[in-house]
Amino acid sequence: MNRIQAAIITMSDSRSQSTEKADESGAVIKEILEANDYEVVHYELISDDLDGIKNSLIRVCDQNISLVLTTGGTGLSKRDNTPEATKAVIEKEVQGISEAMRYHSLQITPRAMLSRGVSGIRQNSLIINLPGSPKAVRENLEYIIPSLRHGLEILR
Ligand code: MTE
Repeated sequence: MNRIQAAIITMSDSRSQSTEKADESGAVIKEILEANDYEVVHYELISDDLDGIKNSLIRVCDQNISLVLTTGGTGLSKRDNTPEATKAVIEKEVQGISEAMRYHSLQITPRAMLSRGVSGIRQNSLIINLPGSPKAVRENLEYIIPSLRHGLEILR
C-alpha cells in the first residue's frame, strides 16, 4: 500500500499559549494515521482565531497534502471557529463524512450533536474537522478511516 500524506492541525487557544499542556488529541490522530499507513508530514498547534485557521488550511492544501485532519473548535463556544474557517476555504463539501461521524458518535454520547464539524475538498486535499477531546478524536477517526483511502484515491 502506498503511504498517503496527511496533516494534523490542532485548534486550541489554551494549548497554543502554554508549553505545559500537551496536545493529546494531536497525538491520538498521529497514532491512528500511522497505524493505517498514512505519512504525517505536517503538524501544527494554533489558536482558535478564524483568519489564522483559514490561512493554515490554505497553506497546507497548497502543499498538496491529501488528508488534512483538524481537531477542536467545532462546538458552541464563541471561540469555536473551525467549521466556519473550513467552509470558507473548501470548494466542495463532503457532508457524508461528518454525518457518518455524528451518526456513529450519537450511539456513544448524545453530546455528539454538539459538534458542528464539516468536511470538504480544497484542490487535491480532503479536510475533515474532528471534535477536540482525545476520546472524541479516537471514536470518530477510527470509524471513518477505513473508508477514506478509497475517497482519496478518487480525488487524486
Ligand atoms: N463525539 C464523540 N464520539 N465522543 C465525544 O465524547 N464529545 C462531544 C462532541 N462529539 C464527543 C463527540 C462534545 S461534548 C462536544 S462539546 C463537541 O463534540 C464539540 O467538541 P469541540 O468543541 O472540542 O470540537
